[in-house]
Amino acid sequence: MEQVKVVKMTPKDVDEVFHIEELIHPKHHWSKESFYNELANNLASYYCIKNEKNKILAYIGFWQIIEEAHITSLAVHPDFRRMQLAQALLIKTIDDCYKNMIKYITLEVRESNFEAISLYEKFLFESIGMRKNYYQDNGENAVIMFTQNIWYDTFKNNFNNIKNSINKVLVSYD
Ligand SMILES: CC(C)(COP(=O)(O)OP(=O)(O)OC[C@H]1O[C@@H](n2cnc3c(N)ncnc32)[C@H](O)[C@@H]1OP(=O)(O)O)[C@@H](O)C(=O)NCCC(=O)NCCS
Repeated sequence: MEQVKVVKMTPKDVDEVFHIEELIHPKHHWSKESFYNELANNLASYYCIKNEKNKILAYIGFWQIIEEAHITSLAVHPDFRRMQLAQALLIKTIDDCYKNMIKYITLEVRESNFEAISLYEKFLFESIGMRKNYYQDNGENAVIMFTQNIWYDTFKNNFNNIKNSINKVLVSYD
């Protein structure tokens, strides 16, 4: 695996991010306009992972409102999965949350998406309920996941263990 870096997403990245969106969700995906709107929104933060050739391999987006963060988007290019990239993006997200005194992080995920659910459980997110027929394309339910208070020792210790297990030689943060 080559050296990769986590960087802020900018409007120049949207075409490439959109291409990954289309690849992953051919039927139902965000428009380019949605990404431009998100990047212009002060509540939102978006990051990408780029390789040495500046190709985008993965991205994440989240909102921070008062003491809560909401993850709106997370995707890793199919050719670059199981390389800790999603974990690197969650680490960046959670570090930002600590900087901004956020207490809880939440998200919705498709009930059938065991890869993502397993990723979030690794970071101690828990399922706290369901939004029935949430996804318009197939009527699938969304699982609502929440962290406990991220300042609690159990969350922090687990987070630091994951952080220490990431290959820092390969992943750098701007
Ligand atoms: C879910 C997704 C983001 C994971 O990205 P990734 O970079 O491959 O994940 P990582 O290599 O960082 O893996 C982190 C953890 O995720 C879980 N995981 C990821 N892929 C998995 C798989 N195929 N099977 C089981 N668990 C998996 C594991 O818990 C893994 O930890 P481990 O390596 O200690 O077992 C990626 O599969 C993806 O982009 N899927 C499509 C988009 C999506 O579902 N986004 C989430 C929307 S809420």
